[in-house]
Amino acid sequence: MVSSILVTGGTGFIGSHTCAALLNAGYDVIVLDNLSNSDSSVIQRLGQICGREPSFIKGDIRDTSLLNTLFQEHSVSAVIHFAGLKAVSESVDKPLMYYQNNVGGTLTLLTAMQLANVKTIIFSSSATVYGDPVSVPITENFPRSCTNPYGASKMMIEDILADLYTTKSNWRIGRLRYFNPVGAHASGLIGENPIGIPNNLMPFITQTAAGLRQEVSIFGNDYDTPDGTGIRDYIHVEDLANGHLAALDYLNQNRELLTVNLGTGQGASVLEMINTFEHSTGCQVPYRVVGRRQGDIAECWADTKLANHLLGWQANRGLEDMCRDAWRWQLRCLRD
Ligand code: NAD
Ligand code: UD1
Repeated sequence: MVSSILVTGGTGFIGSHTCAALLNAGYDVIVLDNLSNSDSSVIQRLGQICGREPSFIKGDIRDTSLLNTLFQEHSVSAVIHFAGLKAVSESVDKPLMYYQNNVGGTLTLLTAMQLANVKTIIFSSSATVYGDPVSVPITENFPRSCTNPYGASKMMIEDILADLYTTKSNWRIGRLRYFNPVGAHASGLIGENPIGIPNNLMPFITQTAAGLRQEVSIFGNDYDTPDGTGIRDYIHVEDLANGHLAALDYLNQNRELLTVNLGTGQGASVLEMINTFEHSTGCQVPYRVVGRRQGDIAECWADTKLANHLLGWQANRGLEDMCRDAWRWQLRCLRD
């Protein structure tokens, strides 16, 4: 039986791009997703991009019997675990749902993996675990903190994975801390299509440029940054996807608990993002400065030396690529 990579949450934004990278690199891929925040049409689109589709199982990571059957019926060499809920404000309103889905789901997945003796996992953590960092750039050994259940769920899962690694029962574990993934696949066939009003900046910009929203609200221009608006480390989702392949290679060669930042190492402000979007697409993005958003920090960007050094990986695409690809995808969403 040929061995496959199981991708939980594989029809989602980052998962789908990682599936494309895995398929293009020759891996066999099984996607497990309950479609709570994605659409199964992604599977056919992956077929268009890569010339072959991943296997797809519609199901939930909290379903023990489904997982046990999956691991019995397929030979899985590693799991890349994206499945989870990710909206910060929703997590404040529905903490139990977040802990059940993210933490409970991961425990169920890990238990099934242990039973099946599948002991390589790459987990989607987040720069949110750094809270409000004392300085930038942020290295992996900065203290962790959180201010909401979403962030807490990421920290708890990181801790569970560390404990599992400490058991010395041959686990290989990657904890990848993503900065701000944006953009879309260059094919224009997959991307991020948030349900309802977007929380994140880039989809808000593309929807405003498309006329679906009136203007972008800039959440504060009184931060201690050069232009007063918040600074983040935006990373193209295809670069991020490639980071998973590099981590998989690394874990195949090293039995380790790997914890790395995946970012570009460069920060961009909200105004810079809007300006770059306008220049690279020729579209106007009306905006208005409003008050700060609760829970926001001034600036956050990654020190990427560890990922460069250990994984031989770095992000190659710039802000213009991110804007152009996000816009191409937005236009496709308008047509579909
Ligand atoms: P996404 O919502 O597009 O993808 C997540 C996928 O998981 C969705 O397809 C959803 O249907 C599925 N899912 C959710 N709960 C599930 C469950 N119980 N069982 C099976 N499938 C389930 O989100 P994304 O942006 O692709 O994020 C992927 C992962 O990366 C998440 O864990 C997220 O917290 C993490 N992350 C995302 C960002 C970001 O800015 N997008 C930043 C840091 C970390
Ligand atoms: C947010 C989450 C974070 C999560 C990340 C990725 C909050 C407080 N933080 O991070 O936990 O890991 O998304 O999903 O929700 N901005 C505007 N106007 C907008 C939207 C955003 O000015 O309409 C600004 C923000 O103030 C920030 C920057 O744009 O300075 C990026 O915001 P966003 O895309 O939401 O990402 P984060 O705040 O970094």
